[in-house]
Amino acid sequence: MEIFILPSEEAIGKAIADRIEEVFTARPQANLGVATGSSPLPTYRELIARVAAGRLSFKDSHFFMLDEYVGIAEDHPERYHNVIHTEIASQVDVKPENVHGPEGNAEDLQVAVKEYDQLIKDKGGVALQILGIGSDGHIAFNEPGGSLVSRTHVDTLTKQTRVDNARFFDDDLSKVPTHCVTQGLGTIMDAEELCLVATGANKAEAVAQMVEGAISAMWPATIMQMHPNAKVFLDEAAASKLK
Ligand code: F6R
Repeated sequence: MEIFILPSEEAIGKAIADRIEEVFTARPQANLGVATGSSPLPTYRELIARVAAGRLSFKDSHFFMLDEYVGIAEDHPERYHNVIHTEIASQVDVKPENVHGPEGNAEDLQVAVKEYDQLIKDKGGVALQILGIGSDGHIAFNEPGGSLVSRTHVDTLTKQTRVDNARFFDDDLSKVPTHCVTQGLGTIMDAEELCLVATGANKAEAVAQMVEGAISAMWPATIMQMHPNAKVFLDEAAASKLK
């Protein structure tokens, strides 16, 4: 795991965008793994500016999302398909039909999750996956206690994650979905390169566990220690509990 401690969220966004520019300039048909949440937003702003400036293009790429709520209305602004469309996909030159995510409203979710894993494989896999981390160490919606080798699957959100996300649902916990579909840790580990962002003191414990803790299903992000090309981008606060 390579650790980069940078002075600001903007600096982190630029550093990851530099890496994406490098990979996608060398391999214009590579695929990008995109995450929702606040951590990737500075990276997205940087990518949007670079595509507008003609430095970078995603016209031959596919985007693969990590996760989605189950049972959320198709037009809900917090539906992750809509979030990714708003925050990045609609503002760069990726083709709309090349933006994919696990389907939380599929008639048969068990079939849909298998099809999603297959689609990622069929399109050549993910070259670079952007990740955030939850304060409890989750990545995507892989919560503590889940399998470290899972494929895309249906899962139950923990109370902590639902409380963390209630701010996007009128601060009303009862409006936060209870289930999700998520790439499994095994699926995420198949990406050629992982770039994880964590900022702020509330991520410090999860970061310390991820980097220095024993690999454990109780801190799902610890599996990244086994990845041959994992980069972690932190601000000082998120790095504050590292030895
Ligand atoms: C998002 C996702 C989550 C977030 C994590 C951190 O697709 O899968 O694991 O990355 O909850 O969220 P933020 O970045 O909002 O702190």
